[in-house]
Amino acid sequence: MIPKDTIQTIIETARVEEVVGEFVHLRKRGVNYIGLCPFHNEKTPSFTVSPAKGIYKCFGCGKAGNSVNFVMEHEHYSYPEALKFIAKKYNIEIEEEEQTPEQIQQLNEKESLYAVNEFARKFFTEQLINTEEGKSIGLTYYKERDFTEKTIEEFQLGYSPDRWDAFTKEAKENGYQAEFLIKTGLTINKDGKHYDRFRARIIFPIHNLSGRVIGFGGRILKKDDKKPKYVNSPESDIYNKSKALYGIYFAKSEIIKKDNCFLVEGYTDVISLYQTGIKNVVASSGTSLTTDQIRLIKRYTPNITILYDGDAAGLKASFRGIDMILEQGMNVKVVLFPEGEDPDSYARSHRTSEVEDYVTSQAKDFIRFKTSVLLEETQNDPVKKAGLIKEIVQTISLIPDGITRSLYVKECSSLLEMAEQTLMNELNKRLREKFKKKSQFSPPEMEQENLQEFHAEKQIEIDINDTEYQERDIVRILLNYGQQEIAFKDEDENGHPIEVPVEVAKFIINDIRRDSLSFKNPVFQKIFDEYVEYIDRDEIPDENHFKNHEDTEISTLSVNMLLSPYELSENWQKIVKIEVVTEVQQLKKAVVNSVLSFKAKMIEELIFENQQKLKKTESEEDVMLLLKEQQDLKQIGRIINKELGRVVTK
Ligand code: GTP
Ligand code: MN
Repeated sequence: MIPKDTIQTIIETARVEEVVGEFVHLRKRGVNYIGLCPFHNEKTPSFTVSPAKGIYKCFGCGKAGNSVNFVMEHEHYSYPEALKFIAKKYNIEIEEEEQTPEQIQQLNEKESLYAVNEFARKFFTEQLINTEEGKSIGLTYYKERDFTEKTIEEFQLGYSPDRWDAFTKEAKENGYQAEFLIKTGLTINKDGKHYDRFRARIIFPIHNLSGRVIGFGGRILKKDDKKPKYVNSPESDIYNKSKALYGIYFAKSEIIKKDNCFLVEGYTDVISLYQTGIKNVVASSGTSLTTDQIRLIKRYTPNITILYDGDAAGLKASFRGIDMILEQGMNVKVVLFPEGEDPDSYARSHRTSEVEDYVTSQAKDFIRFKTSVLLEETQNDPVKKAGLIKEIVQTISLIPDGITRSLYVKECSSLLEMAEQTLMNELNKRLREKFKKKSQFSPPEMEQENLQEFHAEKQIEIDINDTEYQERDIVRILLNYGQQEIAFKDEDENGHPIEVPVEVAKFIINDIRRDSLSFKNPVFQKIFDEYVEYIDRDEIPDENHFKNHEDTEISTLSVNMLLSPYELSENWQKIVKIEVVTEVQQLKKAVVNSVLSFKAKMIEELIFENQQKLKKTESEEDVMLLLKEQQDLKQIGRIINKELGRVVTK
């Protein structure tokens, strides 16, 4: 494992134009470089490298990232491989973290387990191809299922003979220690007697990402109510069931190429689809999908298509698992197979082009699909419909990206024949609950606001983890100046500059809403929500509305805030005789400033959270995701702060 500070050094040292320049001919244009995009075919360059930002972006195909991302994408390297590549280029030494004797011991142990599995794989192949029993029973079975010789070879399929210790005996004779035979699960130890786990079964080796065998699945040949259909290897030091995906080794390059991954249920579904030419397919092997498995797929594509062959009840039960995929920021589609068919049977009874047509034409966006399935059930039952809305909104709220969320709100509102705003309100409620749970917020004491305090407050170094100050400033401006107008420059239809007046409240509310931001302070959020309701009716509440509000928390807070410190500050100004520009005179600046400061703070907070996670995380893959996220956040932060600097100094 590469130490974290070495990773940082590599990332900081790498110059994106030099790294990309190794693979793409770049020409300087202004502050940037341009070249022909290596990720899609083009004749005029739309591939841009920005040394200042440390990133590349293709305006043709949209591929973008930093130096490490480029090497990963271009060379199909894993994250550590890409880091090593760049480190070599810049002569950065990577001392992999030193290993303790226990770690070395463990490493050797792992190698022993791999060795046993490799021996077993060869043994099962031998049994299938070169023994009478294997040929007459195993090969015949494969033939009946239309598995070709090429497929059997590629997936390294085998056969375990109908004897109680054929494998164990052979392995021992070849010098493999019982300890490792038992640890891989190939051999079962019962009261000191050793016998085979896999007997009279056809064998599916399970491979890890680099193609090494980590475990096996064995299918019974004839239906037998007394025996399980499948026997699988138990977990071991090299086989973690929640992290493995059947077929990933064979599918990964095709998943990248097709930018999509098909997910099926069984070993045979993977193999049949692969054999027919649909190679970007993996299976979770009967268990429900785990977060680790989803993230494994996400290394190669953000798109997943689930091929489902169950009945409606089973399908509904799987909704929960699919929500988990959305939560990882992936796009999920679902394909249902006709009654009685599964991917395996469908692939066997149809031509390749028909199978391809079917899975593409039948693929339905999951959220749309879930909405229509549930809607069918709730026809004309308003109570059930309310539950349905909650359920759909719950699903939408899991999507990490704000823009995607609002697109789904739009879609579902028309599917459900329901006002977009109703769904939006419900969604915001959910998001706030989630946010609160995360931040464990407790409402602050409301104190009397006066001049001194105000100035003191202005100067306080605000807690890095709190947007309270920014939220308060926005609410204060809303309450004090909500109905006033500020002007923004625009053009009329003839291109002449004009000034467009906008009410302060409208500007602030719409701006914050556009970015799906919410307030942590629940009272501020309540006030915000009321503004939203009013603005959607094209009205703006006046100060009396809040001063006299039935909710005493709102009314107390409003009264305090409406005692404007700025009026006082004008008096104060007279006393000390210095030029202070009042907020009213500079209203537009104050308004824009308040919203930008809030956003800047939110970003700061997200960066802080990201760094905390970075400190804690163990996996290299997570480090990569987090660093990428951090870079994006910093980029947004820079844009906001630049804007803010402009507003403040203008
Ligand atoms: P065929 O029926 O031959 O097409 O096999 P299949 O692989 O499609 O099996 P099925 O659709 O019944 O099950 C899907 C997956 O669930 C299998 O590939 C196995 O990974 C898992 N599975 C099925 N039955 C068992 C079982 O009895 N025990 C265990 N541990 N897993 C099973
Ligand atoms: Mn099947």
